[in-house]
Amino acid sequence: RPSNHVTIVEMAPRDGLQNEKRLIDTETKIELVDLLSDCGFERIEVTSFVSPKWVPQLADAADVMAGIKRKPGIRYAVLTPNMQGLEAALAAGADEVAIFASASESFSMRNINCTIAESIERFRPVAAASCDRGIPLRGYISCVVECPYEGAVPPANAASVARQLRELGCYEISLGDTIGRGEPEAVDRMLDAVLADLPASMLAGHFHDTSGRALDNIGVALDRGIRVFDAAAGGLGGCPFAPGAKGNVDTVAVHHYLALHGFETGLDEEKLARAAAFARSLRSAT
Ligand code: HMG
Ligand code: MG
Repeated sequence: RPSNHVTIVEMAPRDGLQNEKRLIDTETKIELVDLLSDCGFERIEVTSFVSPKWVPQLADAADVMAGIKRKPGIRYAVLTPNMQGLEAALAAGADEVAIFASASESFSMRNINCTIAESIERFRPVAAASCDRGIPLRGYISCVVECPYEGAVPPANAASVARQLRELGCYEISLGDTIGRGEPEAVDRMLDAVLADLPASMLAGHFHDTSGRALDNIGVALDRGIRVFDAAAGGLGGCPFAPGAKGNVDTVAVHHYLALHGFETGLDEEKLARAAAFARSLRSAT
C-alpha cells in the first residue's frame, strides 16, 4: 500500500440513515450497502445494534446484515453500545464492532443514557468479548471539540476518553465532531492533547459538516499524520441526540479533496458518484 494511502470508512448506511425521520425499508438499505460495496471501500459501517426505541430507523439491523452481498476484503462494521448489542452483532456476523463514548457528560447522558465513567464500565465486557472472538474493536468519541449542550469541550476530555478506549483494546479511535461546528484551530488543539498519548496511526477523524469546515478539519488531521477518515456518500447523517447536527462530510468531497492533495483512496469515482446519488435520493425533503 502506498504511503500516501488514506482509508475512508463509509458511514452512509449507519450515521447517514440513523437521523432520517422517514422509515426507509430494509431492501433499500441493503441496496445502498451493495452499491457501496462496489466502490472500493475497505470498511463500511452498515448499521447499529442499539435500542429500537432510541433509534427506530435501525431496528432492522439484523435483516440488513443478513441481506447484504458481502464482498471479500471489505469489513462490514456495526455499532454496539452494550452486551445485548454485541451479542446481536456477533449473531449477525459483523466483521468489526464499535463502542461509542463521548467527551462531554451531557451528550453521553442524552445519547446512551449514562455518564462517561459508566459507559466505560459498560463497554468493558463488550471489549473483552469482541477481543476474545478476534473481532476488531473500534472506539468513537463524540463531541471532541463542541457539544450541543455544553459548548466548547476541553481538549483534555477527549484525550482522557481516548486513553480509556485504548486501554479497553480499541485498535482505532474515531474522533467525532458530532455537531460539525469545530473550527480547525480547535481541532488542532484537541489533536495536540490526544496525540500526546496516542499515535496518529490509532486515530481516525469523523467530521460532520454543519459549518462547512469539515474538509479544513481533515486537512489539519492529515498534517498531524492521521490517515483514516469517516465520511458518508451523499453527505447524509447526523445524530438524533445532537440537535442541529448536519450530515457527515460527503465521501465524494473527501475523495476529491484527497486526490487534489496527492492522496489516494482506492475508490472508483464513477461508482461512488452513483452510490452517493442513491444515498441522496433517500434523504427526506426538508
Ligand atoms: P437504556 O434505555 O438506558 O437501556 O438505553 P436499558 O439497558 O435500560 O434497556 C432498555 C430497553 O432497551 C430494554 O427493552 C432493552 O432490552 C433494550 P425493554 O425491556 O424496555 O423492552 N435494549 C436494546 N435493544 C436492542 N439492542 C440493544 C439494546 N440495549 C438495550 N443493544 C442504550 C441505553 C445504550 C441501549 C440506548 O441509549 C441506546 O440504544 N442508545 C443509542 C443511541 C445511538 O444509537 N446514537 C447514535 C449513534 S452515536 C453517533 O451517531 C455518534 C457517532 O457518529 C460519532 C459522532 O458523530 O460523534 C458515532
Ligand atoms: Mg457521527
